[in-house]
Amino acid sequence: MIVTTAELFKVAYGKFAIGAYNINNMEQALGLFQGHIAAQAPFIVQISKGARKYAGIPMIEAIIRAAEKMYPEVIFAVHLDHGDEQSCYDCINSGFYSSVMIDASHEPFEKNVEITRRVVEAAHAKGLSVEAEIGQLGGVEEDVKVDEKNAHLTDPHEAKAFVEQSGCDSLAVAIGTSHGAYKFKGQQSLHFEVIEAIQRLLPGFPLVMHGSSSVPQEEVLRINAAGGQLDPSARGVDENELLRAAALGVTKINIDTDGRLVWTRVHREFFRDTPKEFDFRPVGRIFVSEYAKFIAARSEKLGSAGKLAEVRAAVA
Ligand code: G3H
Ligand code: 13P
Ligand code: ZN
Repeated sequence: MIVTTAELFKVAYGKFAIGAYNINNMEQALGLFQGHIAAQAPFIVQISKGARKYAGIPMIEAIIRAAEKMYPEVIFAVHLDHGDEQSCYDCINSGFYSSVMIDASHEPFEKNVEITRRVVEAAHAKGLSVEAEIGQLGGVEEDVKVDEKNAHLTDPHEAKAFVEQSGCDSLAVAIGTSHGAYKFKGQQSLHFEVIEAIQRLLPGFPLVMHGSSSVPQEEVLRINAAGGQLDPSARGVDENELLRAAALGVTKINIDTDGRLVWTRVHREFFRDTPKEFDFRPVGRIFVSEYAKFIAARSEKLGSAGKLAEVRAAVA
C-alpha cells in the first residue's frame, strides 16, 4: 500500500527512522520489497532524476506499481529524490508520488527559500509533502559537484528560519555525511551536537539525512578481491549511530551506495567464479536475495523493523 510520507513520519518521529532507498531497476525493487517484508518494516522508495532517465518514467513507475501488486502487505511511500523545480512539478502533477524533494541547496539562502516556497505551494495543493535542503554535503550530488572542503554543516538557526520561511515539511540537513563511498577520513562520526541544536530549535520537525550508507569494509574488500578497484579507505556512516540520530528527529535516512556495493560484489564474484556463464538470471536471483538480506539487516539498525503493524494501524 502506498501511503504519504507524512503518515510514516508521524509514526516514526523520535522513535525510529524510515529507510529511503533509491531504485533504478526490477531486481532492486524485488530485493527492496522482499527485505522489508522479512523485516516487517515500512519504507520509502525514492526515484532520482537519474533513475527516471535511466529506466524511463513509465518503466520505473510501472516497476513500483507491479511490486505493490506482488507484495500487497508492504506499506511504503514514493518520493522524488533531489528534484529540481521542473521535475518536482512533473511528479506533483503525475499523481504517483507521495512527496518530492526540491534540492536548491546550491542556491543562496533567499533563492533556496523562494524556489522551495513555490514547490511547497504546488505540492500542498495536491496533498503532497516537500523535503528541502540547506547546507551542502560533500561528494557528488547528481550533476552538482561540491568540493569536500567547501561542504559545510547546517547552521541550526538558518535551518529554523528556512523552515519558517519556506513552509517545507521536512529538511535535509548537513550533519557530517556526504554522498557516495568516500564519506569520512579515518574515524569520524555524525555531528550529533548539530542535530541536537537543530532539534532544540525545530522540535517535532522531521529531519532527513542524505548520504547515509555505511560502506561496509567487508563489501569493499570482497569487491576488490573479485577485481574491483575501490579505494580501501572508503568509509561510511557507522550503522550503530542511526538510531541515536533517529531519536533526535532524523526521521528519513537515505541509502543508495550500500545497495550499489551489494550489486557490484554479487556480480563481480559471480562472473569471476563462473566465467562460462552468460545467463543473467542466476546472478540476478543472487542479487535479489543478498539485497533483501541487506535491507532486512539495515531495518533493524534504523529501528523500523517490526513497525509495520503499528504503521498499518495508524493509516487505517
Ligand atoms: O543522492 C543521490 C542518489 O544516490 C541517487 O543517485 O542520481 O545516480 O541516481 P543517482
Ligand atoms: P548514499 O549513496 O551515500 O547512500 O546517499 C544516498 C542519498 O542521499 C540519496 O539521496
Ligand atoms: Zn541525497
